[in-house]
Amino acid sequence: MIQIRNIKRLVLIINVFLFASLYSCKEIHMLDTKAYTEDDLYRSNFHFSPKKGWMNDPNGMFYKNGYYHLYFQYYPDSNVWGPMHWGHAISTDMITWTEKPIALYPDEKGYIFSGSAVVDEKNTSGFGTLENPPIVAMFTYHDMVREKAGEINYQSQGIAYSLNEGLTWTKYEQNPVIKNPNIKDFRDPKITWDAIHQQWLLVLAAGDKVHFYISKNLKDWEKQSEFGRGIGAHGGVWECPDFFPMIVEGSDDYKWVLLQSINPGGPNGGSATQYFVGDFDGKKFTLDESFLQDLKQEKSLWLDYGRDNYAGVTFSNISEVDGRKLFIGWMSNWDYAQKVPTDKWRSSMTIARELKLLKEDKQYKLSSEPVKELKNYISKTIKKDVLKIKKETIIIDKSMVDLSRLDIHFTMKDLKKDNYTFSFSNKFNNSIRFGINKKEKYFFIDRKNSGIVSFSDNFSNQITKAPFSVDFDKVDVRVIVDKTSIEVFYNNGKTVMTEIFFPEKPMEKFSVTKENSNFKIENLIINQLKF
Ligand code: FRU
Repeated sequence: MIQIRNIKRLVLIINVFLFASLYSCKEIHMLDTKAYTEDDLYRSNFHFSPKKGWMNDPNGMFYKNGYYHLYFQYYPDSNVWGPMHWGHAISTDMITWTEKPIALYPDEKGYIFSGSAVVDEKNTSGFGTLENPPIVAMFTYHDMVREKAGEINYQSQGIAYSLNEGLTWTKYEQNPVIKNPNIKDFRDPKITWDAIHQQWLLVLAAGDKVHFYISKNLKDWEKQSEFGRGIGAHGGVWECPDFFPMIVEGSDDYKWVLLQSINPGGPNGGSATQYFVGDFDGKKFTLDESFLQDLKQEKSLWLDYGRDNYAGVTFSNISEVDGRKLFIGWMSNWDYAQKVPTDKWRSSMTIARELKLLKEDKQYKLSSEPVKELKNYISKTIKKDVLKIKKETIIIDKSMVDLSRLDIHFTMKDLKKDNYTFSFSNKFNNSIRFGINKKEKYFFIDRKNSGIVSFSDNFSNQITKAPFSVDFDKVDVRVIVDKTSIEVFYNNGKTVMTEIFFPEKPMEKFSVTKENSNFKIENLIINQLKF
């Protein structure tokens, strides 16, 4: 009896103790979290996000007179998707952006969906003059009234022009310029000046394929051909295409590249962007024979295997002297974009990237790397020639750098059939992990314990994987980290993974671990960025 009473007392004491310690932990946790505003914790340091409201796809990106222009799908009155406008931001280097007044508002013809803009240097449209050439934008009108009435022809293409370098726009009175041919998903026009065939060229998503059109004046468009049915990934609807010629690196050859976003149906679920490489005779796109072989093996090729790079397209009017193909994507995924834990605004864009077309062992590959302008923002550099990794190693911690604005570069060597995991973490046990599983042959990002994840079931229910088929013992890694995003570029951007995460407090250390065999990190460069 006495014994039982003693045991009960002991259990009570233990419980009180446990409860007290749990409670005090919770309190520190809560106090700590409260010490941060939403902007402190989640507003990107150097990825564009709107001051307030909802943002999705990048639209109408062009360069003119020293400024890069970024428009974006925007709903200023809420933090979820709604009547679409085009927001606007400008930058001299694609890194620091200044938000400008809204460029395009919805009207009686519909919401303003995604599209593109070109500089009409020769005034082919007649909207401006040779002295002051117009910028011409094409967007999709999405007519909600027709959609609600159960019709299927509610998307058509309209144009607008600007005579003050993209600041304000006038919609063309005779819109739409491309009427709906009775196709439900008929949207996201991307115009390119096709210098090879001396024509304006337009690619448009049409359900499970794209349509190509050409024009002489940006107002009258003639359909030429279609591409895509039964080719590549078709787990969802095709959206936001982009189509342009690219020099094959290290050669005089060029090929045409089609970027094709798809939602859902990405390699790790939800939204993602696949690409195709081939030839274009001015009317019709034909897949390159060797690309077709790759496609048979891999089914589809993806620009980014992470979950958070969608609807990305390239800038128009980049000068020939510059010659780069410059790309920005929306850093989110329709699977959960409207639920991420920010209140004032939702989502950011990826870092601006340079695309390159490579040909190795007869295989074409589209690589992407952060634009070189990022180098101008380095405020502090830490270097290490060799790091031998024998057990868990802390590479860097918050006493040395701010872990929410880093550009890290290193080479991993002596890799065996092992699991190599890098991790940014904090004292709340939040961690965003990435690395290579060489046993099962994939690169990965794991955000299961990255902080706030419960807002959506499919935000962190799986590890994101980028599979590889050829083995290696060495790999080059570049990692760009902001407060809520990680962008990992392997082997100069041949494999890319972009993901977002929401820690409960800032990350405090960057560490690495492996399962069995030791390995080396060489030429480690940690650049802290200034913003
Ligand atoms: C892609 C997309 C586009 C559409 C826009 C609407 O994310 O669905 O196809 O134009 O978003 O906001």
